[in-house]
Amino acid sequence: MKQRVFVTRAIPEVGIKMLQEHFVVAVWPEILPPSRECLISGISAADGLLSLLTDKVDGSLLDVAPNLRIVSNYAVGFDNLDLAELTKRGILATNTPGVLTETTADLAFTLMLSAARRIVESASFVKNGHWQTWGPELLLGQDIYGARLGLFGFGRIGQAVARRAKGFAMRMRYFDVVRQEHLEEELGIEYVEPAELLATSDFVSIHAPLNDFTRHFFDREAFTLMKKTAILINTARGAIINEKDLYQALGEGRLAGAALDVTDPEPMEKENPLLTLDNVLVVPHIASASHATRNRMAVMAAKNLIAGLQGQEPPNLLNPEVMSRQRGI
Ligand code: GLV
Ligand code: GLV
Repeated sequence: MKQRVFVTRAIPEVGIKMLQEHFVVAVWPEILPPSRECLISGISAADGLLSLLTDKVDGSLLDVAPNLRIVSNYAVGFDNLDLAELTKRGILATNTPGVLTETTADLAFTLMLSAARRIVESASFVKNGHWQTWGPELLLGQDIYGARLGLFGFGRIGQAVARRAKGFAMRMRYFDVVRQEHLEEELGIEYVEPAELLATSDFVSIHAPLNDFTRHFFDREAFTLMKKTAILINTARGAIINEKDLYQALGEGRLAGAALDVTDPEPMEKENPLLTLDNVLVVPHIASASHATRNRMAVMAAKNLIAGLQGQEPPNLLNPEVMSRQRGI
């Protein structure tokens, strides 16, 4: 009998087709994610789950999925998966690293340029008919060229941002739990402790996973350390920032602006006071949203799932200990 796979949203066709060659595939057809009940009914008979970052995969969900052998997450971030619960139950977990690195770095850079040069405000200014003449003081922003960039997190995406920033002669520093000495000379970037990173950067861009260390790292205390002229960019996970503290810091002029691709929760509520501020730019979690990259993510997520259900080691396995256990190593 063919194995069953549940896909929690219509990912690009190329990935669905690959899965259909091997499995009976059910795809959740709505624009909104499946409710908990629908997720439960979709997963209960499934051998494989292709999940999105909007699906919370935890122990209580796994309790209703006796056949489940793999969860293939269509994202590089996997804070939506309870990895410990998956591992405990011998269920493989995979993500989609690498394929979205450059596209995400492009968006981080777009947000930095847009916030620094007030692009969204400027475009609205023209559309709303306010443009009267060239003005010496009109819509002044900040220079990116030669400015100081602080990267909070220096994995693949942070490094890809640094490569772009090099072309803008930015003076770069980073903090990461893993030091990358071999890249420091190549990219002209210096390792510093978080407090120093915050205190000396004109732009701080977040490229870290969400975990116990990074959750609400950017809070009142962090904003107090940052320059009053600094702009904060987040393309990682919303909960790395305490949004209430961010609003307060911006209101008190302790920070110059923020550009966010991710919020906590998502979607950001329409009533969120951050949306009333001209110096806050929010886009709806689109960092990996290019046609080519979403196709690559679909192929990668499908390959991981197929390998896992065929008893091979998936290329992007997050919990290799499950595989070793199955092989009795
Ligand atoms: C998107 O946020 C991802 O983690 O891929
Ligand atoms: C994700 O790709 C990262 O390691 O930055």
